[in-house]
Amino acid sequence: MSNHDRRFDPKNHAVLSNAEREARWQPARLLGTLGIQPAQTALDLGCGPGFWTLPLAEIVGAQGIVWALDVSQEMLDALVQRHPPAQVRPLLSELPHIHLPDSSVDWIWGAFVVHEVEPLAGLVNEMRRVLRPGGRIGLLDWRPDAVHEDGPPRHHRLEAETVRRALRESGFRLLPVAWEHEDAYLILAALD
Ligand SMILES: C[S@@+](CC[C@H](N)C(=O)[O-])C[C@H]1O[C@@H](n2cnc3c(N)ncnc32)[C@H](O)[C@@H]1O
Repeated sequence: MSNHDRRFDPKNHAVLSNAEREARWQPARLLGTLGIQPAQTALDLGCGPGFWTLPLAEIVGAQGIVWALDVSQEMLDALVQRHPPAQVRPLLSELPHIHLPDSSVDWIWGAFVVHEVEPLAGLVNEMRRVLRPGGRIGLLDWRPDAVHEDGPPRHHRLEAETVRRALRESGFRLLPVAWEHEDAYLILAALD
């Protein structure tokens, strides 16, 4: 199977912005606990129509930048139709490659996307390349043992430990995570 079969169908983009999802993941609240600072440069991997991009833009403010990266022009069009503020910069790019310069990003956020991208090691190396020293990443993804039945097929999902190991092997330092959820895991890591 190619990783294209794992990709979220952009025709279904509206379900990524609905109120039920907002209540379930509380994006502004979760992102607000991570320590992202005003005027920083953030990168939203697999941003879709902007469920996390817009609260990220609120946090970094007008002096910051949020690169909103997606492989789907349809997703980026849906984001633009939501009239994001000027600090949001749509970026058409196919992971694992990230079309940004070395050491140009303070924070990388990736929600429900890592399991759709191969190879994992290539993605981790690209994240390390574009992060500035001292930069951080936050990855949120589906648990294979989730309580609820929605989300991608369970055999498409990655164990948290698989992602953690790839990060450690690439030189990231894992950070403690206080957040817990019955359907998803959050991984935080830093590049020293
Ligand atoms: C399940 S959606 C999640 C969207 C958003 N992060 C959210 O939580 O609302 C996954 C997104 O990743 C994008 N994506 C999948 N594979 C990708 C790749 N190789 N490169 C860039 N984006 C990709 C899809 O187009 C889709 O927008």
